[in-house]
Parts: sequence; C-alpha cells; structure tokens
Amino acid sequence: STTPTSLITIFGATGDLAKRKLYPSLYHLFRKGKISKRFAVVGVARREWSNEEFQEHVKTSVHKALGSDENIDEFVSHFYYQPNDVSNSDSYKALKNLSDELDETYELEGNRVFYLAMAPEFFGTITEQLKNQGLTDTKGFQRLVIEKPFGHDLPSAEKLNSQIRESFSEDQIYRIDHYLGKEMVQNIEVIRFSNAMFEPLWNNRYISNIQVTSSEELGVEDRGRYYEKSGALRDMVQNHLLQMVALLAMEPPIKLTTDEIRSEKVRVLRSLRPFQQDEVKDYFVRGQYGPGKAGNEALPGYREAENVDDQSNTETYVAGKLMIDNFRWAGVPFYIRTGKRMETKSTKIVIQFKDIPMNLYYNPDKPLAPNLLVIHIQPEEGITLHLNVKKSGQNIETTPVKLNFANNSVDGMNTPEAYEKLLFDCLRGDATNFTHWDEVKLSWAFVDKISEVWEHTRDGEFPNYEAGSMGPKAADNLLAKDGFSWWPIANLDVDQC
Ligand code: BG6
Repeated sequence: STTPTSLITIFGATGDLAKRKLYPSLYHLFRKGKISKRFAVVGVARREWSNEEFQEHVKTSVHKALGSDENIDEFVSHFYYQPNDVSNSDSYKALKNLSDELDETYELEGNRVFYLAMAPEFFGTITEQLKNQGLTDTKGFQRLVIEKPFGHDLPSAEKLNSQIRESFSEDQIYRIDHYLGKEMVQNIEVIRFSNAMFEPLWNNRYISNIQVTSSEELGVEDRGRYYEKSGALRDMVQNHLLQMVALLAMEPPIKLTTDEIRSEKVRVLRSLRPFQQDEVKDYFVRGQYGPGKAGNEALPGYREAENVDDQSNTETYVAGKLMIDNFRWAGVPFYIRTGKRMETKSTKIVIQFKDIPMNLYYNPDKPLAPNLLVIHIQPEEGITLHLNVKKSGQNIETTPVKLNFANNSVDGMNTPEAYEKLLFDCLRGDATNFTHWDEVKLSWAFVDKISEVWEHTRDGEFPNYEAGSMGPKAADNLLAKDGFSWWPIANLDVDQC
C-alpha cells in the first residue's frame, strides 16, 4: 500500500537529523513506491536558500547516506524551500501561501504533516504560529511529528505538552522514539504473542531475570552542550530503554490497535516500583568515562570533550534494576544498562529462565547452563535460544547449544530503516510506534526521582570507567547482590546463517 497524498513540511531542513535520516528515508520510500506520487516537501529553516540549493542539499544527503541515487532528480523535484524566522508571523504567511499553492499543484487534498526536526524550545512557538496563521486549517489531516528531547523533566515536559496541545490534539501528535521503529524491537511483540512456547513461560514462575543492554562505542562527539544537561538517564533510559521494558513486560493486548497496545504499555510503566530517595543507590548506578583505549587507539575522557565542563558530573552510563510490581512480574528484576564509549556497539535483550526444578545431570565442575532467549536488536538482528543437549559420546553429559535465527533481510542500516518505517506509519496515520503523552509522563516521573537525587550527590569520583570498557564495577555489584551477573555481550553473538 502507498501513503495518502501529503505535504510534508520539515522545520530544521538544513540540520543534521534531516540530512542523515529524513531525506534518505523519504527517498527509500519513494524508490520502493511506498509514498504516493502526489507528495511535496517544504524545507523550512533560517538560511536563505533557493529551491535549487535545497534540492542539491537533499541530493547530496541521500547520496552520502545510501551511496545510490537512482531517479534522484525526479525525487528532488518534489522539494521546495521556505526561509523562516521561527517567531515572525510573516514567515508563516509566506509558508502558508507556498503550502496552499503546492496543495493545488499536486492535488494534496489538504493533508499535512509538520515535522519539527529541531530544538524543542521552538516547538511551542512554531505550533502556535502554524495554527494562528491558518496552516492547520485545511480539509485533510494535520499531523505533528516531534523529536526528543520531550522536556527535561516532568514539569518541563508538561509545559511543552500543554503548549503544543493548544494547536494539535493528542491524536494528531506523533512523538518519535526511533527505537520503536527498529525491526527487532517491533519483533518483541511478535515473538511473544505468536508463539505458543513463550507466552506460558513469560512470567515470574519461569523467568529469573531480564537484562537489557544498549551500549555505544561512540563518545559524546559534538553534542557536549546538549549532553551536559541531559546525561545518559534522560538521553536513553527515559525513552528507549523504558520503551523496550514496557514491550517485554506488557500483557497481551486485546487487539493490535494503537490504543490497546499503548494502554498495556502504560500499565507496565504504572507498575514500576517507586523508591525513596535513599534507595536510589540500591537500584541505580551511574558512570562517566575517563580516558581509555580501543585497540591501540587512545580515547579521550568525557571531560575532555568539546563543550563539556572539565569537572562535569554528568553521567554517560547508567545501570539500573527495575521491579515491576504486578502479578506477572513480582520478584523478577529487569536490569538495564546503557552507556557511551563502551567496548562495543550493541543492543541486546537477554531473558534468563529459572533453573530446572531438579538437576539430574549434576556435575560439580560444570553446572547446568540456564536457558536463555536472546533478542539481538542491533547491529546484528536475530534471536538465539540457548538450550542444553547431550554431548556426543559414550557418557551422558550435557553441553549448551544455541538455536539461531539471523534476520538477514535487512541491509544492516538499522537506524535509517527505523526512520523510514516511522515516517511511513505517520503518513498512513498509524501512531502505534510513537509514544503517547501518558507514557512520556510516567517515564519522566520515574526518571525524575533518580535525577533529583543524582543532581545533589556524588557516589564516588567520576570518571569511574575507562573509555572502551563495559562500564563501572558497581554495575556488576548491582546484579551480584541478587546472585546474577551480566551475560557477556561478546559471547552472545547471533551466528550469521
Ligand atoms: C539517541 C540519543 O536518542 O539515540 C543518542 O540521543 C544515541 O545519544 C542514540 O546515540 C542511539 O541510537 P542508536 O539507534 O544508534 O542505538
């Protein structure tokens, strides 16, 4: 199926996100014939560009990201540019004229998507102007796509939300969490709800703990200014990690509709065990990378990065233990961890099953390995199931094996894929893989409890892990206290078929 006709207006058209993700994704959709031929894109930004300059920019972006550009001239002929001063209403009048013209030329039936690929401090002004200048007053649909960060804490997110809600209703707002567009994140529900063998075991009777790791090799790069105020907790946990936990823990929805799925996710977030301020240290560990090494290459510490305070107390690593206090999950820890400048770039979910009730193969030198289900989100995509089988030979001895499914259908470029799917969903009006305000609100409320404590205290000295390592020692203790340990990422690889 193709998307309905639509005018896509991108604010922040000269920026990094548009260049790296949005233009390549739109191009992919165009090439696959998934986007209606009746579409137009208006790029909006401060620079005084002409349509031609903008089209050149889009061409270069696509070529750089994908290395191919078949039919690119036809693609960019749909792109127009409108210089804009965010708070000047004349800019919006000009934008309205151009939009109305394009609406007529391409017969777009008044369908409009506004994509705000820029800093959130402008969201309120832009949405207000869009409404006041009549850009949202069309006979078709009007949708607003916004990028994170959605606020800095609950009060700022609430303020931002109420500003936006003056001009757009909740069902017109598409809040991007690009993890929800990843192939294997979308697979979590399918694995759980389409296989008779998992759902009956998916609870505290059979699962001992769940580990979600999202490690990055890159450091903070040139985002020091943003990251200093954010840190790993706000940057990764409030959104991506909590979303993955919600998908892993939710009850089967009655139907696969947006509302049913979202309300099950909300129930998980509502069941997260709250803690007192003095308990934060028992559940959460923070870290910051210092200088280190990757192979022979020396890596600088976080405090040496551009726009980062040389005494910074910002965390670049978080590990946490989440308890979901409901019937299904009582007593099962969900351990999460994420960090910059770690040993490897990897997002994986490990579901560890409980030991069998009685071990007939008892061997003091070789304990029976627990069953694991590993969901490989990135860079490789797949599922592995760790089982015990008989070791070939005369004796009855066990040996662990991996049943392996490598998802080779994707071309390895996971993130552009995610944006492509999400853009497609938004154009079709499917908001399932976007976060509802209720989810955002609950996630902030949970995370705020931690950051309030962290802002006023220090646990030991930063930096506390070396660049290129798997994080601070304290993160191991978090699991060791419960008798568990992190499954080493390097040993979990999905073997390529
Ligand atoms: C973003 C964060 O939301 O996710 C970045 O702001 C992070 O700091 C990125 O690097 C990770 O995304 P991915 O798709 O590379 O895992």
